[in-house]
Amino acid sequence: MPTAAPRVMTDRPTASPTGHEAALGPLSQIPPGEGRVFAVGTVEIAVFHTRGGGTYAVQAECPHRQGPLADGLVGGAVVMCPLHARKFDLKTGAGLGGDCDLQTYPLRLTESGEMWVEV
Ligand code: FES
Repeated sequence: MPTAAPRVMTDRPTASPTGHEAALGPLSQIPPGEGRVFAVGTVEIAVFHTRGGGTYAVQAECPHRQGPLADGLVGGAVVMCPLHARKFDLKTGAGLGGDCDLQTYPLRLTESGEMWVEV
């Protein structure tokens, strides 16, 4: 059974020099194979760091019944919602069951490992 991921709320500066991205801090705060939740303004985003080194940002709540996706099991680039086991492709947001999809957000990683998300 997965343990609850700690919620992370960012109070970091929310604008990049171009004004389109929010700083989320270092990727190192998310262990491989896990996800964390960040608040960017009023939007909650789940950021996943896969064991293969991939990084993905999607809506924090499952579109089915608001399950906490960051607490879900991650395998490859797929997350399984902890409430009713729906699976989602983290790259595209597509629901693998076909009945609901996730909103994805562009996530940029700097050379120093800092994450920036476009909301
Ligand atoms: S709340 Fe995610 S599958 Fe039901």
